[in-house]
Amino acid sequence: MVQLTLPKNSKLTEGKVWDRPAGANNVREFRVYRWSPDDGKNPHVDTYFLDLDDCGPMVLDALIKIKNEIDPTLTFRRSCREGICGSCAMNIDGSNTLACTKGIDDVKGPVAIYPLPHMEVVKDLIPDLTHFYAQHRSIEPWLKTATPEPQKEWLQSHADREKLDGLYECILCACCSTSCPSYWWNGDRYLGPAVLLQAYRWLIDSRDEATGERLDNLEDPFRLYRCHTIMNCAQTCPKGLNPAKAIAEIKKMMVERRV
Ligand code: SF4
Ligand code: SF4
Ligand code: FES
Repeated sequence: MVQLTLPKNSKLTEGKVWDRPAGANNVREFRVYRWSPDDGKNPHVDTYFLDLDDCGPMVLDALIKIKNEIDPTLTFRRSCREGICGSCAMNIDGSNTLACTKGIDDVKGPVAIYPLPHMEVVKDLIPDLTHFYAQHRSIEPWLKTATPEPQKEWLQSHADREKLDGLYECILCACCSTSCPSYWWNGDRYLGPAVLLQAYRWLIDSRDEATGERLDNLEDPFRLYRCHTIMNCAQTCPKGLNPAKAIAEIKKMMVERRV
């Protein structure tokens, strides 16, 4: 039988259980993934208890309260706290989502909070998104034109503008890509649902004049064609977008340009 050896410090262990708030009637348990590159310890799950009568309604409110009042070493990203910046993406109750728009009451029982899966962790709940952003840059996410830019607004018809609906709302939170099995196994070369949705956003922009070049850049057995329509991406997107559909549209454009 094959023996697998886990890398050093890869085993998840039970961590510290913090005190319950005294005299509280509405207490909820939060089980939070912790790991620091600095202490040489295994990753562990710390348990915190909060009085929900004295806490905002969202999971991000709970994390901020833990950090402010219980454990200042807890580390996570957040900025807008209203589902716009994408920085608080994490795995809550088994699904990738935004901590600032996920209600604590939407979770039954203890609230399990982990970093986005299958990513290198910088610390605690912070994934390393360096590769993800480099992939985004690789699709050249800006208007590319040959004709001189107009001096005033660059007009689009209503119909052309509507083609961007369901795409421009993407906040690049990476919830979809980190829920995609193809991206887990081939993320070094497969661009993943978030970046491909962005690629399609520029492909169908009526003002862009680099369609052929953009398709050439995606015509590759790994960059595009590792999507096997498993649909995790559409199920998990906290903005209700459908990256799998955008990927299917790119594949259709590939076929259409061959005929
Ligand atoms: S498609 Fe949705 S889940 Fe994916 S990066 Fe954009 S907003 Fe996040
Ligand atoms: S549909 Fe494609 S991109 Fe979406 S989760 Fe499945 S394999 Fe990944
Ligand atoms: S803090 Fe900006 S999306 Fe959650």
